[in-house]
Formats: sequence, structure tokens, C-alpha cells
Amino acid sequence: MVQSYALSGQKELNKSMNTELRKNITWVGYIDWTVRDFHGYTAERGTTYNAYLIQDDKTALVDTVKAPFGHRLLQNISNLTSLNSIDYVVCNHAEPDHAGALPEIMAALPNATLVLDQKCMDALSEHGDMSGWRTKIVKTGDTVTLGNRTLRFIETPMVHWPESMFTLVPEEKLLFSMDAFGQHYASTQRFADEISLGTVMNETRAYYANILMPYGKQIAKVLKQMDTIDIEMIAPSHGLIWRTHIAELLEAYGNWAAHQPKRKILVIYDTMWESTGEMARAILEGASLNDVDAQLIHVRSSNLTHIATESLEAAAIAFGSSTLNNGMMPMAAAVMTYLKGLRPQGKAGFSFGSFGWGRGGPEAVHDFMESMKWEMLREPLKSKYRPSSEILDECRNAGRMLAEKAKEMA
Ligand code: FEO
Repeated sequence: MVQSYALSGQKELNKSMNTELRKNITWVGYIDWTVRDFHGYTAERGTTYNAYLIQDDKTALVDTVKAPFGHRLLQNISNLTSLNSIDYVVCNHAEPDHAGALPEIMAALPNATLVLDQKCMDALSEHGDMSGWRTKIVKTGDTVTLGNRTLRFIETPMVHWPESMFTLVPEEKLLFSMDAFGQHYASTQRFADEISLGTVMNETRAYYANILMPYGKQIAKVLKQMDTIDIEMIAPSHGLIWRTHIAELLEAYGNWAAHQPKRKILVIYDTMWESTGEMARAILEGASLNDVDAQLIHVRSSNLTHIATESLEAAAIAFGSSTLNNGMMPMAAAVMTYLKGLRPQGKAGFSFGSFGWGRGGPEAVHDFMESMKWEMLREPLKSKYRPSSEILDECRNAGRMLAEKAKEMA
């Protein structure tokens, strides 16, 4: 017997949360208002796990949600149709924020076939037991006909995992883009045009910087494929759905994928007793030219997510650390390790910092920057204990050089 998930008292409320994208194509996901630490990503505004129900002659569910919220997804579906009526569940991405609820969902949908690519099958079978599930393996160009609408699949490896896939409904010019074009943004609105464009683009930039930055080459390939597709709506698996500003969104993604810098510099630092802090402020002073966006970031007053987001479009970065135990300060090292993993490319910069009886802070930063293949503008700028007025002048000059370099690059 199939369990009932429709809660009578909540039915009207749940119905109102189910937003129609097109006739009989409905958002049925879950809004996670309270998450703040998304595997290390600081999600200041929470997030959503988007799932979509397409009701035609056949009925398809596109993507699911994180494991704890599977019953919510089933309630949302139940308010629209019988769970027996679901013919297909499309899994565009095996990561647990979208596929974690699949065991609960597949158990609750007795007539559903899971549609996925071969790499997704491999990944899911290594995450858990799929025995008893009906599956259909698809590849780029394959289609599933629902009636008046068709699902067409486009494999998008490494956007964000090897098995990632887009699902297009060509008759509706609607693309289900999984992680791509998404944002961690919880709200009662479902469409990007219902909030300010600046806010949604900032969240889209943060998402790209922290999740997709390492995969610029693969994203550029996908964007090229998208040039040939007529799209009026992009429905990602996190955050708001795009039905306007699609050209701007694709252009921004193109620039980010190409590591296109802006006239922007960052002075990022950690400091023990403010010697490195004084140097950072002198560098910023030198770098504050009229037409360059210069920002000062103290790593322990910020977070990894914000620093990676601001680094995405920065042409040049000065990074400083005091010396602790012959190396960088621990949070400076955390930032460097995180940035190195995200592989920001085509940047220029230099390191700076203070030392006392031991050495190694600014040198360790320099080595990290070099290992990311950034253009090193000078040797580490160092101060023994307190920076003298000569050292601070040198910092101002180095800041000016950094800003001039940013102007040359963008
Ligand atoms: Fe939102 Fe790569 O999962």
C-alpha cells in the first residue's frame, strides 16, 4: 500500500508553495531557511533544493532533495497528483543535496523509472543500494516523450560532478540546469526577477566562485552548446529560477569561465600584533586609485566563502601573513589552501608580512601564490617586528604597482 503524504491541514499552504513555471510544470522542492554551513560554504541566506514536476500524458519528477526533506517533496507531489502516477524520476546530479532523498522517493513511487546517465548510475550505486529500482540510462541527445512535452538530455561533465547532466524541455524552451546558474538563496519568491538583479547576481557569483570556479573549461564548453539552444527559462537546482536577464547571466558565466578579471584588487591579510595589519592598510592606501576597486579583507573578520567570491573577478591580490611557527598564520593558510583548490587563474600579486626571531610567513604565502601560477610582481615584502616609515612607503609603492597592474589587465 502506498503511504499518503498529503497532510490535509497543510494542503492549501503546500499548494501555495508549489509554484507553476509553465502550465503543469511545477516547483515542488524544499526551502532550507536555516542551513548556514553548507559543507563549509557559508550560506548566509540559506538555500533551496529545487525539484520540478512535469505533468503530461506521462509524469516526470526532475531531481529530488537532500535526504532529511524527502517527505516534504512527497507531500508537495501528493498535493498535485497521486504518487502512483509518477512515471519518471530524472537524476541530473548524484550529489546528496539533490539525490540524497532518492531511496525514500523511489520507494514511495511504485511506477517510476529512474532516468540518469551512466556516470550517475556508477556514482549512485557507490552511494547506496539501488536494487529494485527500474532505471533508464541516457546520454546526450536522447529523449523521453511525456506527451506534448519531451525531455532531452545533455551531459555536462564536471558541472559540477562527472555525472552532471542538464534536462531540456524544448517545447517550453525550459532548461533544468542542476547546479549551474543556481544560488544559495532561501526565499518565498521562486523567480529571480522577483528580487533585485544585483542581489541575485551577487549570490550567483558567490555560488560560481565557491562551487564551479575550478571547472571553467568544462563550463565554457557547455555555454557553447547552449548557444545552439533556444532557452527562455533556466531552472537550477538551487535558488531562484531565471526567466529574464538570461543573456546577462550567460555573459557573466562566460566571463567567469574565462577567468576574465575586473579592475579590482584585494589586500587580504592576517596579523598577530598589527604589524602586518599596518602594512596591509599602507598597501591599500597606495592601491586606492580612482578607477580601481580596492578592498581590504582581514581573514578572521571574514570567511572563506566571501574571500573566494571576491577573488573571482580580482585582477591582482596582495596577501599578507605574520610569521607564526615559521609559517603562515593558520587562517591565512586555510584561505590559501581553499583558493588553491578553486584554481583561480590569471592573477597577479605579491605577498607581505612581518616576522620576529623566526622567518617564513610571507615566504610561505609567496610559495602558495607561485604554485597557483599567479604572476608574482615582486619578492615578499617583509618587516621585522614593527614596520618602519620606509617599509610603509614601500608598501604604498607596492600597492600602487598592484593597482596599475590591475588597470593594465582589465
Ligand atoms: Fe547542489 Fe553539486 O550539488
